[in-house]
Amino acid sequence: MSKELTDFSLDIFSLKGKVAMITGANQGLGMAYAVALAKAGADLFIPHFTDDISEIKTLVESCGRKVAFLQGDLTKEDYRKAVVQACIKEYGKIDILINNAGNNYFADFLEFPDEAFQKVLDLQLCAVYYLGHDIAKEMAKRRSGKIINIASALSFTADTGCPPYVIAKHGIVGLTRSFANELGKYNIQVNAIAPGFFASEVNRAVREDKVLHKKICDHIPLSSGEWGDLYDLMGTAVFLASDASNYISGWVINVDGGFSTVMA
Ligand SMILES: NC(=O)c1ccc[n+]([C@@H]2O[C@H](COP(=O)([O-])OP(=O)(O)OC[C@H]3O[C@@H](n4cnc5c(N)ncnc54)[C@H](O)[C@@H]3O)[C@@H](O)[C@H]2O)c1
Repeated sequence: MSKELTDFSLDIFSLKGKVAMITGANQGLGMAYAVALAKAGADLFIPHFTDDISEIKTLVESCGRKVAFLQGDLTKEDYRKAVVQACIKEYGKIDILINNAGNNYFADFLEFPDEAFQKVLDLQLCAVYYLGHDIAKEMAKRRSGKIINIASALSFTADTGCPPYVIAKHGIVGLTRSFANELGKYNIQVNAIAPGFFASEVNRAVREDKVLHKKICDHIPLSSGEWGDLYDLMGTAVFLASDASNYISGWVINVDGGFSTVMA
């Protein structure tokens, strides 16, 4: 139904009454998405892998929002199913999914262990597909939903030493387009955020490698070559989770200080 231009209001960014599941949001980048969505009015469900949930619980509750948790390994089918059921039991629906949980492994290419290759692919690509697929079924029943996948600067370029990460993150772009294509008829928008470089557990080794760290900083046009602040990710997450992005699907927004646009 078409709307009048004068109907426009900033309420379009509000997430009041929405329920968002954000995987791995008890630390790192996921924590920023969680606080952003809570500030915008959403209640949260957080599947977490490690024990440390007290900080995110305090942060979300200080926004006046509810948060529920379930601990487990997203590479396990039983846990993924349990996560969907627990969120539906708690809130009755899932409006927004942010597929954020991730891992990485660095090794010389010719020595790269098969188990590490599989472990990264299992979480960074397969779990994103399976969880997204299960939740899409719930969203399709209500003909409404937002799925946000987390891509990377390495969705568009290849670095050395972490082949499964590069392969999985390139896959996230295809997965996002495929889901967008399949789910548009159910009014489900599927997009991705491609963060540039933000300090967290997955890139500790990158930060400790002085040569690589400088090479990256030299390719960030904004902020005098600094890595991003978690704060820089929050507006994009709210935008893609909200009605403000209802006519956008299948795209990736790079939040990387311009990193991906600079010639190597
Ligand atoms: N930090 C960056 O600069 C950066 C850049 C681009 C993309 N990303 C992506 O952002 C996402 C979040 O990464 P981060 O940097 O916050 O790292 P992080 O290590 O701080 O967070 C990763 C989260 O995933 C969880 N996790 C790990 N293994 C899991 C498993 N088997 N099952 C369930 N959860 C599991 C961890 O417990 C943690 O909560 C990842 O997908 C990562 O690839 C990060």
